[in-house]
Amino acid sequence: MFILCSRDHVQWTDEETEKARQKAEENSKEKIPVEEQSKYDREAHKYWDRFYEMHQRKFFRNRTWLFTEFPELLPPDTAGLCLPEQEQEQEQGGGVDSCSESGNREKQQPCASSTLTSHMNTFPGQHAAFRILEVGCGAGNSVFPIISTIRGSKAFLYCCDFSSQAIELIQEHPDYDPAVCHAFVRDICDTASPFPFPPESLDIILVVFVLSAIHPARAQDAVRALAGFLKQGGIVLFRDYGRYDLAQLRFKKGQCLSENFYTRQDGTCVYFFTKDEVHHLFSNAGLEELQNLEDRRLQVNRGKKVVMHRVWTQSKYRKPCLISD
Ligand SMILES: C[S@@+](CC[C@H](N)C(=O)[O-])C[C@H]1O[C@@H](n2cnc3c(N)ncnc32)[C@H](O)[C@@H]1O
Repeated sequence: MFILCSRDHVQWTDEETEKARQKAEENSKEKIPVEEQSKYDREAHKYWDRFYEMHQRKFFRNRTWLFTEFPELLPPDTAGLCLPEQEQEQEQGGGVDSCSESGNREKQQPCASSTLTSHMNTFPGQHAAFRILEVGCGAGNSVFPIISTIRGSKAFLYCCDFSSQAIELIQEHPDYDPAVCHAFVRDICDTASPFPFPPESLDIILVVFVLSAIHPARAQDAVRALAGFLKQGGIVLFRDYGRYDLAQLRFKKGQCLSENFYTRQDGTCVYFFTKDEVHHLFSNAGLEELQNLEDRRLQVNRGKKVVMHRVWTQSKYRKPCLISD
């Protein structure tokens, strides 16, 4: 796709909103029969394994906008480091506002009482002063920019995905370094399985284009379980597809599983969130809002003479500090 022009913060007219609503209504009229639906949930990891077998590391581009949008990812001891250059992305775009939040970490204030009490004797990254977890990390398009940024700092990165293929791609990457990063296979919907670090041990959890891949009925439990691993004052950074994004409106009839939830040709699934749904997911998990916005953009492909409306949701939610006497 050749994009010549992109305009941010686009307001939709009532007419555009209505047209999008009608398109989504139209493509979700015919639902996949209920008896066929469960396989997309039950075998989700297999569809993603096939995805990574086929595309390897080539599908998504490095999410180098991460540090501009999410400066909270920068460990406290790396202030002033040069960051990877920002790129525009198309399918899973980033960058709500290239400049507005750059370097703004003022909302990230660790709680005075956030000391680690653990039943785990040893765990990877236990001596780190700043711990980040990326869930649904895929082939590492955020992982490697983060590794190159935190190397030499007191930070440690954990990353997991339920696709063992994805995790292999990460572990075999020449920049993978167990001194800085621990990659492991984990289904975040399987809330009973352990994580390789104790509760309340993480400063940041990064959730980028992953909750959309999960059945909407399972997302709340997954978020609640993840919130248990945040330190007081720790933050979830979230970016994902928004309601009526071009990717939603492009679906053909017969690919809809339930309202705003679809399966692609390759069997992977995608949900399209509203801002309110995102708010409920995180606030029901006991987190407080720092940011919750819809990023609406207009992308124009002049070659093909196509105008595309992209919608993403971006949020930051923090675990409150308990006030002790
Ligand atoms: C759209 S990709 C995004 C990958 C990565 N976050 C990125 O931004 O490049 C969604 C990822 O979520 C993973 N995923 C989906 N459901 C998951 C689950 N229940 N537990 C762990 N990972 C999951 C998939 O395997 C896939 O790698």
